[in-house]
Amino acid sequence: MIITIDGPAGAGKSSAAKELARRLGFEFLDTGAMYRAVTLAALRAGASLSDQAALEKVMADFRLEMPPGRVILNNEDVTREIRAGPVTAASGAVADSPIVRRLLGEMQRQIAAGRNMVSEGRDQGTIIFPDAECKFFLIADPLERARRRQRDMAGRGEVVPWNEVLEAQELRDSRDRERDLAPMIPAPDAILLDSTQLTLEQVVERMEQEVRRRIKRGN
Ligand code: DC
Repeated sequence: MIITIDGPAGAGKSSAAKELARRLGFEFLDTGAMYRAVTLAALRAGASLSDQAALEKVMADFRLEMPPGRVILNNEDVTREIRAGPVTAASGAVADSPIVRRLLGEMQRQIAAGRNMVSEGRDQGTIIFPDAECKFFLIADPLERARRRQRDMAGRGEVVPWNEVLEAQELRDSRDRERDLAPMIPAPDAILLDSTQLTLEQVVERMEQEVRRRIKRGN
């Protein structure tokens, strides 16, 4: 069974996906981490992020492992580095790349094949798993999302002014929404959840109820 959770950064997708997977005994796939790992590999290779041939070369040497809670790029643990500012800022350009989207999409389908999986990203319910048994699209008020992001960054020792966090978020949101390939939009059959006024516990509770209802009735 595949469950997809899509939506903008800061709506709480990762935490909700992880906790939902834990409660259901499913695996969890963070597809944003995959785009971030490609971005890091491209930055290290000095590739121009709009040059499709250069990105194709980066992908040819791209070996990714994702044991629970960690991201291993070509045998190196990059779990922390892929969350840092430079990777976050450059990831939008990499996510626009047709070749990267195609290859990561294939990897995502391979990883999920035959498994019970909660998969989180921007295009999981629309493009990658259009037949997923249960789809969620998680949103939250932009100001609240920026507050959460600023808190996360501070937790990692990155102190960034509030207006800068908000501006960067707006840029990433519009880039994600407006890209020609796989724009961030809810699948027609996705359940829309707004986490602005909800705790993580409440979000996951609603998701779990919905999934269990569907399991019971057989889809
Ligand atoms: O969710 P995140 O912030 O870790 O995502 C990192 C980048 O990858 C961000 O620019 C959005 C992009 N992304 C995407 O285009 N499609 C996905 N399925 C997941 C992430």
